[in-house]
Amino acid sequence: MIIKEAQESDLRRIAECHISAFPKSLSSALGIRYVTKMLGWYLSSDQTFLFFLEEEKLVKGYCGGMIRMAAGAGSASSMAQFSFDQAVRSFLVRPWLVLHTEVRAKYFFIVRNLWTRLKRLVNSDSEITSTNTFVFEPYVALVVIGVKADDHSKGLGSILLKEFERRTVILGLKKMLLTVLTANERALKSYLRNGWVVSKVEGKSTSMEKRLN
Ligand SMILES: CC(C)(COP(=O)(O)OP(=O)(O)OC[C@H]1O[C@@H](n2cnc3c(N)ncnc32)[C@H](O)[C@@H]1OP(=O)(O)O)[C@@H](O)C(=O)NCCC(=O)NCCS
Repeated sequence: MIIKEAQESDLRRIAECHISAFPKSLSSALGIRYVTKMLGWYLSSDQTFLFFLEEEKLVKGYCGGMIRMAAGAGSASSMAQFSFDQAVRSFLVRPWLVLHTEVRAKYFFIVRNLWTRLKRLVNSDSEITSTNTFVFEPYVALVVIGVKADDHSKGLGSILLKEFERRTVILGLKKMLLTVLTANERALKSYLRNGWVVSKVEGKSTSMEKRLN
């Protein structure tokens, strides 16, 4: 089993792993093209990264993160803007997905991103800027982690979490954050086992963090 930095040519194989790890998610329902495009977001800037576990050419698991040195738009909005055109195409061929539970739960998020897109079409210079003035502590956000369904509970998630932590240390940062659905017991258990602690439970989401010394 080796850990590899994702390249453009790996994205489709990683997308297959994503669909196996998240079979019921909206992204998986939107299809392999959409997931491949969405994963491309991690390769689109030097503030994001994506790595994966490979065994005999098979992608067993993957993990993506975002380095946050300043306050600003979150990863979800940035990713939605990046994969917007492919999302529209994928919805057009699967119109029933507008009734998907994730769409209904994220109605406000979707409208906000449509609005951002419209503003960008009208004014190409329009950028999301932050006016926050509070003291910001840089951190690395764990945006996604997934292990192929057949390989759950074999310790692969822990390997990915350790690699994520190793990268945070190399970056010289001391704080890692993630958000998980409170109902996702397997993921929560894995994070707790790997030293993450719950910082907030809000609605259906649990925020967790791990500080490094
Ligand atoms: C969340 C997820 C990434 C965790 O990965 P995982 O490989 O199942 O998690 P872990 O590495 O913590 O697995 C530990 C289990 O493997 C076992 N194990 C076997 N060998 C091990 C080893 N060498 N090291 C550690 N654990 C090992 C442990 O005993 C433990 O078993 P248990 O769950 O019965 O207690 C994975 O379950 C997944 O992809 N879920 C679907 C996608 C998802 O929900 N992602 C998170 C969204 S926030």
